[in-house]
Amino acid sequence: MARVADFHRLLAPRLTVLVTTMDERGKTDVSTFDFVSPVSFDPPLIMLAVGPKKHSYWSITRVKEFVVNVPTEKILDKVWSAGGPFDPNESKIQKAGLKTEPSDKVRPPKLSECAASIECFVEDARKSGDHIMVIGRVVATHVNEEYLDAKGNLKVDVARPPLHVSENLFAFPYVTKSV
Ligand SMILES: Cc1cc2nc3c(=O)[nH]c(=O)nc-3n(C[C@H](O)[C@H](O)[C@H](O)COP(=O)(O)O)c2cc1C
Repeated sequence: MARVADFHRLLAPRLTVLVTTMDERGKTDVSTFDFVSPVSFDPPLIMLAVGPKKHSYWSITRVKEFVVNVPTEKILDKVWSAGGPFDPNESKIQKAGLKTEPSDKVRPPKLSECAASIECFVEDARKSGDHIMVIGRVVATHVNEEYLDAKGNLKVDVARPPLHVSENLFAFPYVTKSV
């Protein structure tokens, strides 16, 4: 029988994103997140759940800006590397080999190799169990044209964003069907 504590393994696979942040000293960071979801169309809001010991938690709640970057299968190894611990003596962005570009409206950079980037201002942050639920207001979006269809959807079968199953296991189940 499945254990209650393993419920998150049953809500899988989950879209996995790279969140870029900047701390109060101007140091940029990247962290992998799969507790992420849109929660409102108007205003446009995104929810992230972040552990309170994470460096990205401090940056998000103090600088109050972040970028949600949607990776592709091509950079799966970098997605995994960005899930490693923060080290004040080196850059996780450089260590993962990720290229950055300035964002339009927020200080943290966006990631050049990602299919899409969503710039956010922090609207709210509240404790939710052992994580902090951060609500970000979307203030700018960017999509790599090669991954965009005529309706404005991500071409998921081309971008093939990694979906997290658990630990170091990812799924790429991309067959699209219209109903
Ligand atoms: C696939 C994957 C998904 C993750 N999802 C989350 C998440 O949703 N929230 C979170 O706080 N940490 C999550 N983590 C763990 C963080 O990425 C990890 O703790 C990272 O070291 C945090 O870095 P930071 O201290 O520089 O912010 C995830 C890690 C991986 C590999």
